[in-house]
Amino acid sequence: MTVSTTLTVALGGRSYPIHIGAGQLAEAAGRVSSTGRKVLLLTDENVAARYLAHAQQAFGLSPEQVLVLPAGEPSKSWDSAGHVLDWMLGQRLARDALLIAFGGGVIGDLAGFCAAIYQRGIAFVQVPTTLLAMVDSSVGGKTGINHPRGKNMIGAFHQPEAVLADLSLLDTLPPRERAAGIAEIIKYGLLGDAAFYQRLIDGGVAALVAGDHAVTAEVVAHCCAMKAAIVAQDEREAIGGGPRALLNLGHTFGHAVEAHTGYTQWLHGEAVGLGLLMAADLSARLGAVTVAEVEHLRSLLTQAGLPTMPPAGMTPAQFRQLMAGDKKVAAGRLRLVLLRRIGEAVLSADFDDEALGRTLAQFCH
Ligand code: NAD
Ligand code: GLY
Repeated sequence: MTVSTTLTVALGGRSYPIHIGAGQLAEAAGRVSSTGRKVLLLTDENVAARYLAHAQQAFGLSPEQVLVLPAGEPSKSWDSAGHVLDWMLGQRLARDALLIAFGGGVIGDLAGFCAAIYQRGIAFVQVPTTLLAMVDSSVGGKTGINHPRGKNMIGAFHQPEAVLADLSLLDTLPPRERAAGIAEIIKYGLLGDAAFYQRLIDGGVAALVAGDHAVTAEVVAHCCAMKAAIVAQDEREAIGGGPRALLNLGHTFGHAVEAHTGYTQWLHGEAVGLGLLMAADLSARLGAVTVAEVEHLRSLLTQAGLPTMPPAGMTPAQFRQLMAGDKKVAAGRLRLVLLRRIGEAVLSADFDDEALGRTLAQFCH
């Protein structure tokens, strides 16, 4: 890939580059030193069908150095992690080995988790292949798997050694997956950059839906820069409520939908998109944003092709039960990321519970 932008996630001794470019993955692969260490690559069947030969060539890998998993969220499971770890042990990987995550957020989170716990931690590199993974999941070192009782309930912070985002891989991304990535992009504007959010309204989302290369490149770099800055301030999401928690805008509602539907029917980004709207609705009931701003957001999500209503039949009680298991619960109290205004989010535990009830009732009717 012809690297056009290189950003840094500044974490002292754990700092690493994010290379963003288009085409020629081999050039970026050359920036990852494989001298003297064993390299393995984890991917999924959809990515493998399109790009495995390309990646094997770029990283100089033989077929035994590659494991291909089923595509989709169910692969973020204990069973899959066990399978990957068995494979790593079978390959006699030593602690100086490198694992390459070649795929979307599912492969990135799973590979990162296995790299984090294999022999107490080996190096890994993120090569994201979805829009969502390029703008969010490949950066920041959150790794993990799901549990039937909750999303990402088991995991570790483990930073990659580098992120190599080749935008040309996005040309084959199905529209629904592209939309899922756009939800996370809208999230960045809402939580921390009103001018960027306005650009998304003023044609940015339309260009992303159309797969416009220049706009996609600019947006991926912008989101990575925002995320790198937040992660540099609060690498491990301080429990008291550091800035990283704000990246979870929309996620408490969204995770409830994903768990309710067994991680199979809704894409993560779709659930986040709905969660953004529900968080905005609650923020409007608390007087922080206007109803017109909520309606703007609804239109933007619709324009991106994202759902704006929960699964049919999902009740407020089911939302509450699943939200109560969220990782942001502290001292037994649910904390939600809400909007203080468009472009500024806040982690709040003292929101009016009746207002939350009205939001849930509004969406679940
Ligand atoms: P995904 O990994 O399931 O990929 C989506 C689908 O697109 C899959 O079917 C995949 O095979 C296919 N695909 C991938 N690249 C392709 C390409 N270039 N062309 C054609 N098809 C391609 O899903 P995702 O949306 O990338 O990631 C969602 C996951 O990311 C969730 O599990 C979520 O929890 C996680 N996530 C993690 C973080 C984090 O900070 N670690 C942040 C956000 C999301
Ligand atoms: N996607 C949330 C985070 O990385 O913190």
